[in-house]
Parts: sequence; C-alpha cells; structure tokens
Amino acid sequence: MTLSSRTACIFGGTGFIGRQIVRELARQGVRIKVASRVPERAYDLRPSGTVGQIVPFACDYKDEGSVRAAVQGCDFVVNCIGILFEKGKSNRFDKIHTELPARIAGACADEKVDRFVHISALGADESQSKYAKSKLAGEQAVLEAFPKATILRPSVVFGPDDNFFNMFAKLAVIAPALPLIGGGQTKFQPVYVGDVADAVMAALTRAAIGDQNPQGKIYELGGPDILSFKEIYETLFEQTARRRALISLPWGLAKFQGAVMNAFMPTPLLTADQVVSLKTDNVVAEGALTLADLGVESTALSTILPTYLARFKPGGRFHGKKAA
Ligand SMILES: NC(=O)c1ccc[n+]([C@@H]2O[C@H](COP(=O)([O-])OP(=O)(O)OC[C@H]3O[C@@H](n4cnc5c(N)ncnc54)[C@H](OP(=O)(O)O)[C@@H]3O)[C@@H](O)[C@H]2O)c1
Repeated sequence: MTLSSRTACIFGGTGFIGRQIVRELARQGVRIKVASRVPERAYDLRPSGTVGQIVPFACDYKDEGSVRAAVQGCDFVVNCIGILFEKGKSNRFDKIHTELPARIAGACADEKVDRFVHISALGADESQSKYAKSKLAGEQAVLEAFPKATILRPSVVFGPDDNFFNMFAKLAVIAPALPLIGGGQTKFQPVYVGDVADAVMAALTRAAIGDQNPQGKIYELGGPDILSFKEIYETLFEQTARRRALISLPWGLAKFQGAVMNAFMPTPLLTADQVVSLKTDNVVAEGALTLADLGVESTALSTILPTYLARFKPGGRFHGKKAA
C-alpha cells in the first residue's frame, strides 16, 4: 500500500506511541507534520522518512489558530497527547485529556480532515481515577466535535522505549524489593506498540463502507497475555534475571506514598490517582471491538520483551555465557 499523496498531522508525535505511528506512516509514504510544543524533540524522527517527508511543527496548544494551522491541509490527524500525572496549572488532566482533544477535533472538523484517530486509554469508562474520567470526557468531547473519529483505548503499551517495563526493570536493578500495590492482583493486558501503530493505520485507511468502517467507533486494544501485577513482576524478573522481594502495600498506604511522591518529585514514580486506577482491572471488555476487528494480530510479550530487557541482566546480553 502506498499513501504518498496523503498528509498527516500527529499531535504528541514525539512521545513513545506517537513516534511509532510517525515511523509507520513514513514507511507507507505519508507526508507527516509532527506537532509538538518543542519541535526540536521531533528532529531525530526525520531520518525515518525521505528528505522533507517528516516535518516538526511548533504548536501552541493555547492558541486555536496554531492548532488549526497544524491540521490545515491534512487528510489524517492522530492525537497521542497525554500525561500520567498533574503538575502545575497547565498540566491538568481536564486540560490535556478533555479540552485539548476537543480543540483538535474541532479544528479537524473545520478543516475537513478525512480521518481523525484519538488515543484514549483502556478503563476510561470504568475506573474512578481522575485520569480515566478525563479520558472518558475527552472521548465524548472528540465524538461531539468530530463524530467520525476513531477512538483507540490501549491497555498498558510495551515496546523498546516504553515507560512501564523499562521503569520497573531500572527499579529492580537498584531496589532490593518492589511494592505489590493492593496485593498485586490488578490485571493488565499489555499491548505491543507496533500493534497500536498498526491499529492506527487501519483506522486511517480501512474502507469507509460496510462493517469494517472504523469511523465513529471505539476499539479496546489488548495483547494476547493477561497478567496480574504480580505476574508482570515475575515476567520481568525472568527477563532480567534479577529476582527481587515483593512487598504487599495496602491501598491506603500506597495512596499516601503516591500523594507524597506527587507533591515532592518532579516525575513521580507513583501518584495517589494511579493507585485509584489500580483498583480496576485493565483488560479488554467482553463484546468490545478489538485489534482483531481492525485486522491486527496481537503480539505476545514473550516475542518482544527479550529484545529490550536483556540489557538489564547482570552482565547484559551475555549473562550466563561461559568463557570460551
Ligand atoms: N504508554 C502507555 O502505556 C499508554 C497506555 C494507555 C493509553 N496511553 C495514551 O496514549 C497516548 C500516548 O501515550 P505515550 O505513552 O506515547 O505518551 P508520552 O510518551 O508521554 O508522550 C506524550 C506526548 O504528549 C505531549 N504532551 C505532554 N504533555 C503535554 C502538554 N502539557 N501539552 C501538550 N502536549 C503534551 C508530548 O509532546 P511534546 O512534549 O513534544 O509537546 C508527548 O509527545 C496518551 O494519550 C496516553 O494517555 C498510553
């Protein structure tokens, strides 16, 4: 498939998921604007395309005109902007997950963009966390402004640059024990970042007729493995050849720790709101539209994790090899 006559704008294209989407679009020949508050963050993406194919685009999200300029002339728009915790006045969930997507969706409608894909989060309609509530309100605002938008709700996303397995792997290197929040029973369905990018491609390119038309639909993206938090740690220990003690942390104490970290750390490892998120399983709902409905075959953790977690083994990739 070649899409070389098409132009896309990726909001949050400098992030973990956004980068994968930019690379996939570039591979398919699409011209891409990477919208960012700091366009320099997109400079290293340029070699993923031909000369001039990937263009960093400075966007001031407070200015409607700036958002509109970003989507002007685009066939496809994808919104991957998101935050994990609130800090200061501008980094608030309602602003980033609700008001901004609404502004982008409105600009897409005004500029007659063909397809708009919005990345939300699994559990948006169930969890009582502030994060999830702002994501759900964001979905509703997007569909109101651009009814043909496709909403993708991934579970925790894994891949070489992820912030989840890598963070716990780094912690396991320095910490003698890791916390099992609420006993570690919360279930996750980790989804590979390449599969999320493939889902975006399908949402942008599938025919607009018949059952397969992805427009105006919500898809829940989970991989083939469903694991409890405790099982995720076990998998991590196996992949990094580092076993650590697991200490059960009651909900109340975890929430208190999260609140302290959020108040005092610039990038908190845990927040009170994330503890609330952990009270709800993060798995694809029965009857939901899934990766399979977008024609994407999901990738197992066991296929991908060894490719980037081996570096955390004592001695790195050559761990366990005997001298010749
Ligand atoms: N990663 C996961 O496991 C996961 C799971 C479920 C859902 N999601 C959702 O998927 C989306 C992408 O996630 P990700 O992991 O790729 O996130 P990420 O790596 O943290 O990237 C987020 C992007 O958002 C932009 N951004 C951050 N703060 C902003 C602000 N205050 N104003 C405007 N833009 C801001 C950043 O762009 P600039 O700094 O360049 O402006 C960055 O490129 C998010 O909506 C997230 O909630 C992610």
